[in-house]
Amino acid sequence: MINPLRGMKDFIGDSSKRYLYLVERCSKIAQNYGFDFIQTPILEETSLFKRSVGESSDIVGKEMYQFIDKGGNDVCMRPEGTAGVVRALISAKLDRVAGVKRFFYYGPMYRYERPQKGRLRQFHQFGVESFGEPSVKEDAVIILMLNEMLEALGIKHRLIINSLGCKDCMPIYRENLVKFLDSIDGLCMDCQRRKTTNPIRVLDCKNQNCKTLLKDAPKLIDCLCSSCKNDFNELKKILNDFNIDYEVDPNLVRGLDYYNKTAFEFISDEIGAQSSIAGGGRYDRLVEFLDGRATCGVGFAMGIERLMELIKLPNKDEDSYYIGALSDDALEAVLKLTILKRKNHKVATHYSVKSLKAHLKAADKAKARYFIVIGDDELRNSSYILKDLKTKEEKRVDL
Ligand code: HAM
Repeated sequence: MINPLRGMKDFIGDSSKRYLYLVERCSKIAQNYGFDFIQTPILEETSLFKRSVGESSDIVGKEMYQFIDKGGNDVCMRPEGTAGVVRALISAKLDRVAGVKRFFYYGPMYRYERPQKGRLRQFHQFGVESFGEPSVKEDAVIILMLNEMLEALGIKHRLIINSLGCKDCMPIYRENLVKFLDSIDGLCMDCQRRKTTNPIRVLDCKNQNCKTLLKDAPKLIDCLCSSCKNDFNELKKILNDFNIDYEVDPNLVRGLDYYNKTAFEFISDEIGAQSSIAGGGRYDRLVEFLDGRATCGVGFAMGIERLMELIKLPNKDEDSYYIGALSDDALEAVLKLTILKRKNHKVATHYSVKSLKAHLKAADKAKARYFIVIGDDELRNSSYILKDLKTKEEKRVDL
């Protein structure tokens, strides 16, 4: 028997229902917020991710599904969605068009990580990216939209925010941090490496000893320039105005190198160690790093598998039907009514005669809201009883 590869899963049965429900609900909300669907290839040139996610990140440093294809090209299965969307924006020359461009996407991503609960090698993200809007209001609205999506899915969450500064204040902070790092001993090997490649990633180290050593490290949030400080204050004000709870975590640096200013993560306390259910932030220089015309950007991605187990699926499909036959003679009418109703509704049926009780059981299994059975009486009267299984109301309808 051939099984799926380690860290990869089929969506079948309940999981496929949950995947589709999430993607449909979130796509609808993203469209309400003015985002258009975009789909980019899974396979891209490896350099795209090296130049965006960054060589100092674990994703590029350790986790890429990278190979040389038959044409000798160095290619990689995308580890995340942002880089491909930015590449597509530039390929379509939309970076040269004025105005805000907003996209949403979903699909598989690949990271060669050590699989564990909530951590897969093939996982799925639902993400959004917005280009060309420098106002921090865009960051705030994107967080509000993500909050709305999680609420629509019935998922409890906590929000953590930080500001990573900009090209003016970040280098000064980085210098301070390196001075501090040089003054302490005992950092782990990864942090020693990060100190030279991208020192702020040290703040994100999960090693307990490093965490203790870094307790007194300078905080980025104390070194922000006035523009970054104002933006961060406005972000907090909008979140307060909309009654969104958040926590400021000065050590939230995110695992990808392209961020500046706003960085955020949504956490669930109900799924174990891999508790980050969504993350994102602003990346104002990524488009130019990838040879596009300078265009600011902000977005997020949620981890679909981590959310799937938390989703509250509706008990009944709100306007779906079950139609059943009580006699052989009624089978033809049942089929005709089923096909007719399927033009506008989801309809479950069986091509065999069953008792009323068996049909009710089948309707329950199908999670149908409305229930119709047709037998000899219904054929004779040319009418049937439409039963609402939720409210228990009944009404007579012409066949
Ligand atoms: P990220 O934080 O690397 O950000 O991933 C976003 C989410 O994907 C995580 O919060 C987590 O829920 C999920 N995830 C990540 N790795 C795994 C894994 N191995 N198994 C299961 N789920 C996983 C990004 O990817 C950025 N592109 C987000 C973004 C978009 N920033 C701006 N725009």
